[in-house]
Amino acid sequence: ENGMHPTKQPFEHYGPFETFNHASIRRGYQVYREVCSACHSLDRIAWRNLVGVSHTVDEVKAMAEEVEYTDGPNDEGEMFQRPGKLADYMPAPYPNEEAARAGNGGGLPPDLSLIVKARHGAADYIYSLLTGYCDPPAGVKLADGMNYNPYFPGGGIAMARVLFDGLVEYDDGTPATTSQMAKDVTVFLNWAAEPEHDQRKKMGLQALMILSTLTAISLYVKRFKWSYLK
Ligand code: HEM
Repeated sequence: ENGMHPTKQPFEHYGPFETFNHASIRRGYQVYREVCSACHSLDRIAWRNLVGVSHTVDEVKAMAEEVEYTDGPNDEGEMFQRPGKLADYMPAPYPNEEAARAGNGGGLPPDLSLIVKARHGAADYIYSLLTGYCDPPAGVKLADGMNYNPYFPGGGIAMARVLFDGLVEYDDGTPATTSQMAKDVTVFLNWAAEPEHDQRKKMGLQALMILSTLTAISLYVKRFKWSYLK
């Protein structure tokens, strides 16, 4: 059974030449860090990827240093703990799938790096999923520990509703409503899945400008050169 079709949302980056809203990426990172990262990994994103996108290099260094990484072996052949650095990847909440399932009643929280591209409906789907939890319709029985969400194929999802008004406190003063956090974390995850997005659209605009100029010039030249034949 398919999930309910997600509503199309007015994401700023949907326009053909629009870039991501980077203030939203920054807030969305905060939601990922404070809420989603308790269960979901983000394997393909390194700390350095945030530099110049959502945070300054000093901010990212400080955030990375708060996380302990296992490194080694050192000269004595031992593994050791050290603070994170820019080149490290985002820490995962569980060491392996078994531990992830054990912590989630058998459900497996997928890695979120590419989730926006992996799901039909993309950003609209993620937003709808996060804001779409409700009581199951009459007659629908859910297995123990399952939650109802009409956007999730099948309706019964192992992830409970996680976003509630005021859950995080944004440093730019934006009120952290459920829908605001859902939007921001969706934009963050969309960026994570398509870090080349802004560059691609800027290049697209440039290509269009250059090609239309060349077309105009060649039309002009053609008419000029052929004019005496008519
Ligand atoms: C699944 C996003 C927080 C546990 C998912 C899926 C997404 C998602 C997109 C995949 C749904 C699909 O397969 O179509 C998020 C976001 C979060 C968040 C953006 C933060 C705002 C959490 C937390 C937990 C959790 C805190 C654990 C307490 C799970 C589990 C699944 C899941 C177990 C698998 C569901 C199933 O297959 O039935 N999440 N999640 N998630 N999430 Fe989360």
